[in-house]
Amino acid sequence: MTIVLGVCATALAQGPTYRFGTAPSQDEIKARDTAISPAGRELPPGRGGVKEGATVYAQKCLACHGPDGTGTKLHRGLIPLGNSKPVKIPGSLVPYATTVWDFINRAMPSTKPGSLTPDEVYAVTAYVLFLNDVIEESTVLDAKTLPEVKMPNRDNFLAVEIDWKPGQRRPLGNYP
Ligand code: HEC
Repeated sequence: MTIVLGVCATALAQGPTYRFGTAPSQDEIKARDTAISPAGRELPPGRGGVKEGATVYAQKCLACHGPDGTGTKLHRGLIPLGNSKPVKIPGSLVPYATTVWDFINRAMPSTKPGSLTPDEVYAVTAYVLFLNDVIEESTVLDAKTLPEVKMPNRDNFLAVEIDWKPGQRRPLGNYP
């Protein structure tokens, strides 16, 4: 028994050696570390407005999302607020505009994710937010103005930690 424990302690102290792979370079880490937080501090330089966004949309998004952009409606969902009747809020499942930028930047166009320049992402995000009635047509988005955009359902997200356990139904149904 004593011997077995001794062996375990030695193995733990050394840690496993797999002998494959290499340590990622700073550039490789940077290329993957693209998450954008609500305050948008990680946003790259660049800018774009609704008009440029409409052009990007026509070239790179329309084929899948349709000529009128209905496919980019950000969950125009029915939200049950307390015991009152559910109300329709555009963009209701997205608490932060930076999340829309982040999603488009990483995932769209789905055939070539990550291929858009920051300017294109700012522009097409502006267009999508305009289609969702969140911003005016004249709004230009950049690293400063995007985090200032308030999503319509922002205040209905719970800011508190929810005591939720795997398998339990979530209090408000499906939310990210
Ligand atoms: C090849 C088809 C295709 C192209 C091109 C494409 N998308 Fe998408 N897009 C999808 C699919 C499929 C989904 C749903 C993905 C999911 O829910 O995981 C989606 C989801 C989205 C959503 C989220 C919608 C929601 O309901 O939450 C946005 C916003 C979006 N796309 C924007 C864009 C933009 C902007 C472009 C152009 C730069 C683009 N997409 C190009 C297929 C595409």
